[in-house]
Parts: sequence; C-alpha cells; structure tokens
Amino acid sequence: MTERPTKPILRVLDREPVWPPPVWLMRQAGRHLPEYREVRARAGSFMDLCYTPALAAEVTLQPIRRYGLDGAILFSDILVVPHALGQAVSVVEHQGPRLDPVTSRTDLDRLAETLPLERLSPIFETLDRLRTALPRETALLGFCGAPWTVASYMIAGKGTPDQAPARVVAYRDPAFMSAIVDRLVAASTAYLVAQVDAGAEAVQIFESFGAALPPALFDRLSLDPIRRIVAGVKAARPQARAIVFVRGGGAHLHRFASDGIGDALALDWTLDPAVLLPALPERMPTQGNLDPLALVAGGEALDRGIDRILEATRGRPHIFNLGHGVVPETPIAHVERLVARVRGSSGEVGSGKWEMGGRT
Ligand code: CP3
Repeated sequence: MTERPTKPILRVLDREPVWPPPVWLMRQAGRHLPEYREVRARAGSFMDLCYTPALAAEVTLQPIRRYGLDGAILFSDILVVPHALGQAVSVVEHQGPRLDPVTSRTDLDRLAETLPLERLSPIFETLDRLRTALPRETALLGFCGAPWTVASYMIAGKGTPDQAPARVVAYRDPAFMSAIVDRLVAASTAYLVAQVDAGAEAVQIFESFGAALPPALFDRLSLDPIRRIVAGVKAARPQARAIVFVRGGGAHLHRFASDGIGDALALDWTLDPAVLLPALPERMPTQGNLDPLALVAGGEALDRGIDRILEATRGRPHIFNLGHGVVPETPIAHVERLVARVRGSSGEVGSGKWEMGGRT
C-alpha cells in the first residue's frame, strides 16, 4: 500500500478537500520582495540566477520564510528549455525575455533534437537542495511552460501582443509549428521527469497564452501537447502530480477535466469558481484564482475577492492561489493579509519561523 501524503497541497492533489485550503502564489518569488532584488543584483544576469543553485534555492525559500506558504515553486523560468536546446535567451531589465527567433526549419534544425539534460543540471541541484531545506509540510513544486507558450517566445524572440507572430506561423506552416511543438513535448516531458527525480513532488504546466488560440488551433497546439506531457510524466513516474494552468482556457477546462488531463486545474482570474466548479466533476481539484491586482489594491477588494473564492470552493479539493502571477508592485503587507485570511487566522503570519509553514 502506498502511504498517503501529509502535505496539504499533495492531499488536495489526491482529491481530498482540505480546510482551510493550502495556499501558494504563482510568481511568489520575485521583484515584490526586497530580499529577491538584493540577490538578483548579486547574481548578475537573470539566467545566471536560475543556474546558480545556492542563489536559486535562496530566492525560492524567501517567500516561504516570509509568508509560510504551503508550496515552494522552484525558482527558474520557462525559457530554460529553449535555452538548453541551444537557443540564445536573455532577460533584459524592463523589457523582458529576448531570444534569437526560430522562424524556419533550418533554425529549428540547429537546436538539439532531444533535451540535453546535463545543461539543466544546476536546476536539478537546486531542487535537491530545496528538498532538504523546506519545512516538513511545504510541498516542492517544479514547472515548465506549455509548448504553445514556449513556442510563441521561440518564434517571436520576445513577448508579443496576442502572440501574433506564432499564430501566423501556426496558420501558414502547420508542419513547422507541429515540429516545434513536438520537440517541446518531448523536451518538457524529459525535463519534468528529471525534476521529479530531483525532488519535485508536483509540477505545474504554465500555458500563459491560452487566450491567444482560436478554437481551430486550441486542441492541436494546447490541449493535445499538454495531454501528452502529463501522460508521459505519469507513465514514467506514476507518483508525480500535475497542475495544469491554461490562462484564457476557461471554455476548454471541462475537457481537461473529463479527459483526466492533470490532477488539478488552475483557474485564471477571469473565471468565477461559483459558476465553473459545479460544472466540473465534484472531486476535481482546482487552484486559484484571485486577481493579482486585487492583491495590489488590498483593503475591501482583497478581502471580498478572497472570501468569494473561499465560499465557492468550501468542501472541495482546492488550493488557494492567484489567477496569474504576483506583480512587482504588490505590497508585502497585502500578501501577509491574504495568507492570514485564507487560513482564517487573525494572527500574525510571516514571523520568519519555519513552524508557521503549515497547520499543526
Ligand atoms: O513563480 C515563481 O515564483 C517561480 C519563478 C518563475 C519565474 N518565471 C521567475 C521570473 C516562474 C514559474 C516563471 C514562469 C514564466 N516565465 C512564465 C509563465 C507564468 C506567467 O507569468 O505567465 C512566463 C510567461 C515566463 C516568461 C518570462 N520570464 C517573462 C514574461 C519574464 C519577464 C517578467 C518581468 O516581470 O520582467 C521573465 C523573467 C522572470 N521570470 C522574472 C522572474 C522573477 C523577472 C526577471 C527579473 O528578476 O529581472
């Protein structure tokens, strides 16, 4: 018999309604924390930070120390996969990611056919360090980008409104688009399996640009690739758990649920759990979905936003989170208030004590 997990996030992923719900936040590490900005300045480049295990582990732990969250997400980026495949990637201050665009079969053929895992070994070392450094109740989460989202950066070479360059390629040259996506399915599967081997207890797949796909392209470029990654990871490591976040994928979520793609569905902030959850299978775990800007605003908007989600998810397996990532303008006091309110405690959080990490 396999042992039942004790960490709250893992219990929810095994379909147990846990109350109060466990909480972590997408992009919980990052520029809203002064201690992150300090390490980031020391690291040199952003990619150097991702590839230096001592520093990457440190910034992963910072939000855990401060807020006592139930999940620690590996500090890295979705773009390390194209980088490991051989594409030049950098993150430019105030501009975001920059890559040498891959726009032809020749460009793609210059990249590695299969993911050279050894190039990502610092990331596995980061996970290994985190495994032993985390509080007992804190789940260690790995992640990757979904193929469409990563491909849209690979093709455009940067973030673009509505991912127009990749969408045009998808219509104009479906075979080329499929070749990129297939390469990313294989690479992402191998990458997530290696993360699980290094200590990740669950992994999240980020489809940040689901909203840019019309119905005619959604299944081929988002749903099927994500299905193949989840199936591949689970075939290789049956104990692995997967959270699927398709931002803008609300209209398709019921199919992820009915097709059994993922152990939990992360909802973006446009969705109303009170409407959506009754349409999902009752024991389908969900995650989300406070508007990150309600967290910036604080006050009544924050409290009401939290309460709405708690009311809609009570009695169901749910992980409290935002509906997208923490933004740099977020006040620390508002994050503390969120954690306290979700846990139903008026007491202090973020005292810096490890024991604050979970329920006793
Ligand atoms: O959630 C976490 O705390 C873990 C770390 C994490 C980062 N990026 C750190 C990061 C995760 C999970 C990601 C995923 C990621 N990266 C996504 C999917 C999630 C989403 O937000 O939709 C995407 C689309 C990317 C691509 C990317 N990387 C962008 C758009 C940027 C620039 C963002 C910005 O605010 O400048 C990055 C760089 C990046 N990744 C930063 C951080 C903290 C900021 C860079 C810096 O510190 O200079």
